[in-house]
Amino acid sequence: MPNALNRAIRRSIALYEIGKAGVSLICHQSERSFRCTLGADALVPNGYIRELLFRHLSAQASTTRVVRDSGDESALELAPVYGNEGMNMKKVAIVGAGQSRYGDFPEKGIKELFFEAYKDMVESVDKGMDPKRIGAAYVGNLGSGGFQLGNMSALVSEFVGLPYIHTVRVENACASGGYAIISAIMDVMSGAHDVVIAGGVEKMTDVSGTKQKYWLGVSGDTEFERLAGTTFAGLYALIAHRHMHQFGTKREHLSMVAVKNHKNGAQNPKAQFQREITLDKAIKSPPVAYPLNLFDCCSTTDGASSVLVCDAEIAKEFTDTPVFVAGFGTSSDYLAIHDRPETVTLEGTKRASKKAYDMAGLGPGGIDLAEVHDCFTIAELLAYEDLGFCEKGKAGQFIEDGRSQIDGDMPVNASGGLKSKGHPIGSTGTGQAYEMFNQLRGTVQKPTRQVKGAETGLVHNVGGSGGTVAVSILRR
Ligand SMILES: CC(C)(COP(=O)(O)OP(=O)(O)OC[C@H]1O[C@@H](n2cnc3c(N)ncnc32)[C@H](O)[C@@H]1OP(=O)(O)O)[C@@H](O)C(=O)NCCC(=O)NCCS
Repeated sequence: MPNALNRAIRRSIALYEIGKAGVSLICHQSERSFRCTLGADALVPNGYIRELLFRHLSAQASTTRVVRDSGDESALELAPVYGNEGMNMKKVAIVGAGQSRYGDFPEKGIKELFFEAYKDMVESVDKGMDPKRIGAAYVGNLGSGGFQLGNMSALVSEFVGLPYIHTVRVENACASGGYAIISAIMDVMSGAHDVVIAGGVEKMTDVSGTKQKYWLGVSGDTEFERLAGTTFAGLYALIAHRHMHQFGTKREHLSMVAVKNHKNGAQNPKAQFQREITLDKAIKSPPVAYPLNLFDCCSTTDGASSVLVCDAEIAKEFTDTPVFVAGFGTSSDYLAIHDRPETVTLEGTKRASKKAYDMAGLGPGGIDLAEVHDCFTIAELLAYEDLGFCEKGKAGQFIEDGRSQIDGDMPVNASGGLKSKGHPIGSTGTGQAYEMFNQLRGTVQKPTRQVKGAETGLVHNVGGSGGTVAVSILRR
């Protein structure tokens, strides 16, 4: 038997039988074992064996990929595949996306907001779409002040003309929308449905300030954090304070994030705040929770968004320019900040993005732009570090050097981010995907906000202070 195959077998898989038909192997990966057979052609002593082995395993076993293959006979190493790379699962595309205007709309409820986003999504499908094709809807929503907790996804689905489908309300706090997209992707990957909606909606402005804080507070470790009197601004203020202490991050760095995102949001006709601010105004705005002030905080927002996810094989029925799902990952974390080993890192972001990068077969350097979760300005700085755009502790320098500006080398939050575009909790993740869909297709409403030549984008959605995180990587 050729050495390469022999060593490969010893490294990752066990030889079961050599016969005239070829080689039978028992493969052990991720605590699962399975049997596969390589044809007689496999017994050719060159790189072809490796390719054949890989092809065969990926087709049959759906759990391996080559992580190291230097061409030398001992260097073939197999690893489990987490997603659809090399798997028998469907590849997934996004073929339409819509968003309502974000803001404060006393005249609109969740049904009207969701309809606005759905209609916008339908109109974005280049070749048109028959709603009868939609088999499922995953709708992100925190609770809209408790107004419609039960059956809300069925309600907004039937309101837009989609009764009798598989529909689920997805709740993971501010990451609900990000998880709704990943639920839709997994649904299509599995083959359960071939056309699925991922959406989100939230109505936040028609409840009192006290009630808003109560409803936002339910996303932390309620027993310790909310009952101790903290708010999310207060929790992120603790993180910001620690980051400043540990890394020398300056107050100005926080405000630079706000100035950048307001500049971008000023060019976004669907943003809540379409106005630029100066650094001086941002720094001198009223305090909310030291060191965070008004312009370090996202607002409370009404809004909805919706994306149309489908089997990549049928994407051309809807558009000639689909956007493909290259990778995704999620991770939970300890909810209470005091339970985490470290305050200045969102471990969920690191783990979710690692899974997404691995699945997409790239690292942070392969990303052309990102929509990240900047519920507070410190959260965007953490995202630069935890997504790997810069080293830990260097986020202040990253923003100061202009690297995350639209014309920087890693544009972040070209939409205006949560800070300026708004943060209607359940809609935020799908709203980020709406922006990325348009960025990658070059269809952003105002060309000044368009990141030129972008091919691969990352969306990052955080629940609470990091208790849940969803990351998706999209590619045109
Ligand atoms: C920041 C916050 C405390 C401000 O609330 P508030 O003091 O009640 O503010 P108001 O709604 O009364 O608005 C006062 C003014 O500030 C503006 N404003 C409110 N929030 C703003 C924000 N985040 N950025 C910029 N301007 C803002 C309003 O437009 C209003 O301007 P106007 O007087 O010109 O009309 C509140 O929006 C908040 O709690 N945000 C965080 C939400 C949150 O925690 N989300 C979950 C994240 S994990």
